[in-house]
Amino acid sequence: MFINYHERTRTFHLQNDKISYIMCVLKTGTLAQLYFGKKIHDREDFSHLLEGAVRSHSAFPQDGEYGYSPEHIKQEYPSFGTGDFRQGAVEIMQENGSRLCRFKYSSHSISAGKPSLPGLPAVYTESDDEAMTLSIILEDPACGAELTLLYTIFEDEGIIARSAKITNRSGSAMQLTRAMSLCLDLPDSNYEWIQFSGSWARERHPLSRRLDTGIIQIESLRGHSSHQQNPFVILKRPNTDESAGEAIGFSFVYSGNFRISAQVDPYRVTRILAGINPTWFSWKLDTGESFQTPEAVMVYTNGGLNKLSQIYHKLYRERLARGPWRDRERPILINNWEATYFDFNEEKLLKIASKAKECGVELFVLDDGWFGARRNDDAGLGDWVPAYELLPDGIAGLSRKVEDLGMKFGLWIEPEMVNPDSDLYRAHPDWCLHVPGRKPSLSRNQLVLDFSRPEVVDHIHGMLAKILRESKVSYIKWDMNRSITECYSEALPADRQGEVYHRYILGVYDLYERLIQEFPDILFESCAGGGARFDPGMLYYAPQAWTSDDTDAMERVKIQYGTSFCYPVSCMGSHVSAVPNHQVARITPLKTRADVAFFGTFGYELDLNRLSEEEQEQVKEYTRFMKEYRRLIQYGTFYRLRSPFKHNESAWMVVSDDKKEALVGFYRTLSRVNYHFSRIKIQGLDPDMCYRVNDGEAYYGDELMSTGLIVSDGTSGKTGDNILPPSDFFSQLFMLRAEDDINL
Ligand code: DGJ
Repeated sequence: MFINYHERTRTFHLQNDKISYIMCVLKTGTLAQLYFGKKIHDREDFSHLLEGAVRSHSAFPQDGEYGYSPEHIKQEYPSFGTGDFRQGAVEIMQENGSRLCRFKYSSHSISAGKPSLPGLPAVYTESDDEAMTLSIILEDPACGAELTLLYTIFEDEGIIARSAKITNRSGSAMQLTRAMSLCLDLPDSNYEWIQFSGSWARERHPLSRRLDTGIIQIESLRGHSSHQQNPFVILKRPNTDESAGEAIGFSFVYSGNFRISAQVDPYRVTRILAGINPTWFSWKLDTGESFQTPEAVMVYTNGGLNKLSQIYHKLYRERLARGPWRDRERPILINNWEATYFDFNEEKLLKIASKAKECGVELFVLDDGWFGARRNDDAGLGDWVPAYELLPDGIAGLSRKVEDLGMKFGLWIEPEMVNPDSDLYRAHPDWCLHVPGRKPSLSRNQLVLDFSRPEVVDHIHGMLAKILRESKVSYIKWDMNRSITECYSEALPADRQGEVYHRYILGVYDLYERLIQEFPDILFESCAGGGARFDPGMLYYAPQAWTSDDTDAMERVKIQYGTSFCYPVSCMGSHVSAVPNHQVARITPLKTRADVAFFGTFGYELDLNRLSEEEQEQVKEYTRFMKEYRRLIQYGTFYRLRSPFKHNESAWMVVSDDKKEALVGFYRTLSRVNYHFSRIKIQGLDPDMCYRVNDGEAYYGDELMSTGLIVSDGTSGKTGDNILPPSDFFSQLFMLRAEDDINL
């Protein structure tokens, strides 16, 4: 790994064993992009890659430099207004009303390791030899702004982390109205764009289309990263599949409004922009002040989509997630939400917990409804005091009683919200986001607290910290159940209202940081009405997230499959729930529900007392199984094998680092009669090792990877372990164990 600077040609080359990222400073001072892709030899001069063009109707801001119209240069941090007619990365409203800015190279520095971004989530290093960082300073003397671009290259994989900082050195105030985290201009447009879209209860379904002239854009304007779009996009070559070919990932480490776009110009150059959504964004910079953008993480691979995902999985599991839970096996939990909703008291909860304990479950989580007047979703949010009429000894007492059963205790909170019917709202009606003189919109009967105000965050922190200090809480599920509307803060002046969305998220991050610092042993799980904040920003604070409110097994195969393109198994909350399923009314076998939920942070979302004795025995077995294999599942290498979006049958797997153990999950949606055999090609095995499948037949790794594991529809008369009985919503697990002394 190195970052070279060639003085004569003013060329930067960031390189490791996998990738090269090359830029140069043009004669005009503009920072131009030359190459991002597979590692290439270093050399002093790459200027032949510039493709500067003189074309009709172009504009040339600098006399004598007619080869360099901004329109035809691939740039690192472009702005609109001086001849680049594409979308820009930065825009600054100055005192005289001009929005023009045009940055020129000033200086740079190279350092070992990676700096943190104050107040913001970001990937990190544990020692300086894991990464190197290039910091380039550019200036626009005419408007008095300074721009710092940060690029970190990691040692092992094709990862570049980027962010930008804008500083006002003008002597008067300016308004930043656009500050994207990355711009990447690619020399062609022969790509497919894959986004991960959906809505509540069907999050992160992959959707792909070819790039063509014009703009494709995904965004959130909901105040959270959203169910509808995820801040992650892949560009892949048309022939790239799961196991081979070029792909580039763009992942935005942020939990609020975002935008990621691809703009293909008439010359087939593709511009990718990712960052805070410029809609309703502005940030006032008084002289001397800076604005730091969140981070965006780009990954390049020529090893196919599984490889791209595996790079993100490892990075986010090991160098984004923090704290003692980062590397620990995650507890098997039971959550009472779908078991009771708001209808519970202490006796009922302890009955659920006792049965769960009998079945081997390790953590009991009390969901919504334990505080204030929260007997339904009309009231109580904001009043974080136990409802003593339900829990006579409060959370302190209940948590002790659960611990006395031999389990850990976890608690649900929704700190960012307030019901108008609450003591908090009655005392501080101005503490919610609202526009004076207008009635704020309700959603789930609640309003959003103004987390851009430090005193609001302090107050909520005080109430929550008190409960955590006096109770035995080992886990927190932090929910957020509505989108933001009427985004206005009574505490900020008119010229700072464009800051509220971002200040809100900074307030959320601040509360998280204070709680995880004071209670480092608590395991946090983020949640936003299911998966509306399943983003890398949250993973920095909470190493796991509730993947979706849809707990149906077949729906979950799709949601978890789509989620896996960016996010590791270790962060995906996945639970076995009751049937008929509460979201889609489908009845799936208990085994299938478990076989899907195993590929995540496993738990239960039902009252186990309501299962038959036979089912309770099954549950004990599933819990035992997960305890035995959770290290493999949550920390192994994950592969997608067959897509539920394209097939009736789907499959995924994990394999241990030493390749001696692998677990394959196979799922079939609808049963078919007299159907053909299927072959599931396994991945990631050692070709020369022999693997015994489900303690039965043994095969060489290369055979399993090349001919595949044969599964049938169960009606074809083949005998053996792999026979599938004919039923809908069927699943099967294949445990592959390498054995030394097999002679085949
Ligand atoms: C939405 C979450 O996703 C559910 O799991 C549950 O916690 C409810 N909120 C409680 O209101």
